Amino acid sequence: MPNLEIRHATYEDETTFRNLGQFYIYEYTAFMGWDVTYAGRFNEDDFDGIFSGDERKPFLFFVDGKLAGFAIIDLLEKSHITGAPNVIELAEFFILAAYQRKGYGEQAATRLFDMFRGDWEVFQLQKNVRAQTFWRKVIGKYTKGKYQEQPTSRGIVQTFNNQ
Ligand SMILES: CC(C)(COP(=O)(O)OP(=O)(O)OC[C@H]1O[C@@H](n2cnc3c(N)ncnc32)[C@H](O)[C@@H]1OP(=O)(O)O)[C@@H](O)C(=O)NCCC(=O)NCCS
Repeated sequence: MPNLEIRHATYEDETTFRNLGQFYIYEYTAFMGWDVTYAGRFNEDDFDGIFSGDERKPFLFFVDGKLAGFAIIDLLEKSHITGAPNVIELAEFFILAAYQRKGYGEQAATRLFDMFRGDWEVFQLQKNVRAQTFWRKVIGKYTKGKYQEQPTSRGIVQTFNNQ
């Protein structure tokens, strides 16, 4: 398997994020049923402010120099999900269809976990069953089974500490 490169994104990558964001949201529409606007685009509020402040850490993934996905990690004083203090939240994570099911998601997630040490939270919507299978496998392997999973009103969250 070719090596995946993880690049910390900057303000210059904003258009790239907004464009990839459309494909990311499209993946969700298969099970969430979201509609596009009349302009034929999805609402992408989640990408606002990803380059301002120190809280959000955007990353792009490349395989052989080609864009293969992205992640956004949030360093939060208080978790939006569990209310826990000082958490590292995996807010968004996407592998483009051409690169899915080839192990790149696992490779990227594992390397991102190693880049930030502390209390992690990884959330999946209830209907995102594929992501739940993926994260249980990846986090289970990374933590050797030492993680917790709890239901929330909108989905489920895995938590673990890798300090
Ligand atoms: C979920 C996602 C990140 C997985 O990335 P990926 O690169 O395809 O995953 P990997 O190839 O590293 O898969 C690792 C393991 O996860 C599980 N998995 C991944 N995709 C799966 C699928 N479609 N069906 C069932 N299991 C799956 C498998 O156990 C897989 O191991 P295996 O291939 O040896 O069986 C990718 O499908 C994606 O970006 N989906 C759309 C956006 C999304 O839902 N993001 C998650 C937000 S919480």
